[in-house]
Amino acid sequence: MAVIPNQIVGAFQEHFKTEAVPDVYRAPGRVNLIGEHTDYNLGYVFPIALEMSCYVAILPAAHGQLRIYSSDWNEEFSTLAEGIGSARPVERWSDYVVGVASELAHAGVPSTGADLWIGSNVPVGSGLSSSAALEVSTALALLGGQPFEPLQLARLAQRAESQFVGMPCGIMDQYASVFGQEHSAIQIDCRSLEHEYVPIPDDLRIVAVNSMVKHELGTSAYRERVAECQEAVAALRKTDESIQSLRDVSLAFFERVQESVPLVPRKRARHVISDTQRVLDLAAASRAGDLIEMGRLFIASHRSMQYDYEISCEEIDFLVDTAIKLPGVYGSRVTGGGFGGCTVNLVAPEHVEAFQTALTEAYVARYATRPIFYDCVPAAGAGRVS
Ligand code: GLA
Repeated sequence: MAVIPNQIVGAFQEHFKTEAVPDVYRAPGRVNLIGEHTDYNLGYVFPIALEMSCYVAILPAAHGQLRIYSSDWNEEFSTLAEGIGSARPVERWSDYVVGVASELAHAGVPSTGADLWIGSNVPVGSGLSSSAALEVSTALALLGGQPFEPLQLARLAQRAESQFVGMPCGIMDQYASVFGQEHSAIQIDCRSLEHEYVPIPDDLRIVAVNSMVKHELGTSAYRERVAECQEAVAALRKTDESIQSLRDVSLAFFERVQESVPLVPRKRARHVISDTQRVLDLAAASRAGDLIEMGRLFIASHRSMQYDYEISCEEIDFLVDTAIKLPGVYGSRVTGGGFGGCTVNLVAPEHVEAFQTALTEAYVARYATRPIFYDCVPAAGAGRVS
C-alpha cells in the first residue's frame, strides 16, 4: 500500500469514526549494505534507513483496550491495555504490536486505552525490515512523547521480536530504524552498540531488487545459523579461552586454527569473520569514493553468503549473476536474512534505467515473475510526523 502521511489522519478518523486528530509516528525499513548475520555475533553491520516506512496513528481512548487496526491486513485486533505485560503471542501480525506494548510495560511504561491505525509501505518478507519498522513506530506511538533513550528504544523493539514474537534476531534492523540519517550509511558496532555515520558517494545509486520469493526456511534456518556460530565459538575457545563471540576472532587467527572447528561451523565462522572485516573495508572505500572497490566487496560478500553461510537461493543467485554482467553495475549481493527477499545493487546513476529493463527481461524469461525495484535513498530515522 502506498502511504502518504497526510492521508493517515483521514484514514484513522474514517476507521475509528471520530473527528479527533491522532498523533502520527513513522519508523523506516532498512537495507543492509554489508555485514550480514554479523550482528548477533557482535560484529559490524552497515545499513541505511529507507524512505519506505511504517506509520502508526494513535489516539488515547476511554475503553481501556488497545484497539489496533492494520490497514495492510485490513484487520482489527483488540486486547485489554491493563496487564499487557503478561500477554502471550497469538501468531498474527498483532504480535509485533502487543510484543512492544508488553516490553514497554516491563520497562515501566504500562499501556493505557488507545486506538491505533497502522499502515506500512515497507514490503513484507522482502528483507527490508518491515517488522522492525512496525516495532519501532509502535513503540514511539505508545510512548507518546515520553522521553526514552534512542538506544534503549532500539533494544526494546528488538526484545519484542526476539522474546515475544520468537525470532532470535540481532539488533541491526531496529537500530537502523531508530538511528537512520540522510545521505549516510550507519556503521554499527554490535558489541559496543555505538555507531558512526559514513557518507555514501553521490555518483552512486543503491537499488534493491525484490526477487518476490520467500522460502519458508526463514526462521528455522536463522536459528540454526545462530547455533552453528555458537558451536564455532565453543570450538575456538579450546585454543583461546578469552574468545566470547566471533567478533573476538581475527581473520589471521581463524585461518591458523580453523582446522580445529568442525566443517559446517567453520564455514559459518569464516563468513561472519570476513564479512565483519568487509564492513570496515566498505566504509573506507565509501569514504574514498572508490566505487570499484565497493563493488568488489559486495560480490565477495555475496559469494561468502552463497557458499559459506548458505543463505542464498537460486533466484537470488540468478539476480546477482545477471546484474554484475550489466554495464554500470559495480556490485550486487543478497541483503537481510536471506533465502529470498531482495538483492542490493550499486549502480551508476546513468545506467539505472537500462539495468532495470535488462534485469526484468532476464528474470521474467527465467522465472515468469517481475522483480520490483526500490531506489534506496538513505533516509532519517524514526520520529513523530505530525
Ligand atoms: C535479519 C535479522 C537481523 C540480521 C539480519 C542478517 O534481518 O533481523 O538482526 O541478523 O537478518 O544480517
